[in-house]
Amino acid sequence: MELGELVGTGRSADVYAIGGGRVLRRYRREVDTAGEAAVMAYVAGHGYPVPEVYPDESDATDLVMGRLSGPTMLRAVVDGELTPEEAGAIQARLLRRLHEIPAMESSDPADRILHLDLHPDNVMLTASGPVVIDWCNAGEGPPALDNAMSALILAQVAVDPEFAFARTARSTLVALAAELGGDLDVGEPLDRVKARRDEDQGLTEREVGLLGEAVELVRQLR
Ligand SMILES: Nc1ncnc2c1ncn2[C@@H]1O[C@H](COP(=O)(O)OP(=O)(O)OP(=O)(O)O)[C@@H](O)[C@H]1O
Ligand SMILES: [Mg+2]
Repeated sequence: MELGELVGTGRSADVYAIGGGRVLRRYRREVDTAGEAAVMAYVAGHGYPVPEVYPDESDATDLVMGRLSGPTMLRAVVDGELTPEEAGAIQARLLRRLHEIPAMESSDPADRILHLDLHPDNVMLTASGPVVIDWCNAGEGPPALDNAMSALILAQVAVDPEFAFARTARSTLVALAAELGGDLDVGEPLDRVKARRDEDQGLTEREVGLLGEAVELVRQLR
């Protein structure tokens, strides 16, 4: 398969155009994309906005999906095309909609599909609305975990003095918390996602060091 232009890059993967309106997302480490492709196809079947996946063309560390056009929500905020408050409200609505979808495997009726990394850089604003990308952390469980994870990720940026958009992230977090209301549980679910992030190999030591302060910020907002 001929790799074209590099259309995006993240901490764990590079995304290349491959023609035919598709992109190939290639992990830099050994990760099997089959589970990710399956969850994307499943939520798409429930009408959730994700890129179309092509499992037959994907293998091992490569995931082939439909090419989206539009900025990420983070880029749109930075460029002044969207307010941080709008970003927080969109994010909350995307979490709500996702949590209406029943789990694929769990027999607990309260469990739902969780993205577990839903933040403004993993939402692309397309002509047909916001689309959620980067499903590598997806799983199933109580929605409160997903909501707490999104809040914690924003808070971690908000308390980071080295991050130029700390204030913006704080405004987005405030709007997210307001929109989620009682569905943002800052008790045990927040402790659980912090523990998960403490172990996340994708975070730097400095970022892990800010997690305690980030938890405090989320609790203060409640
Ligand atoms: N389907 C797509 N169509 C067009 N561009 C895409 C698509 N999927 C991803 N991208 C671009 O590639 C970038 C990286 O994608 P993605 O977030 O999946 O990578 P990642 O390495 O997992 O990121 P992270 O740093 O969040 O772990 C996105 O910000 C976006 O600009
Ligand atoms: Mg990403």
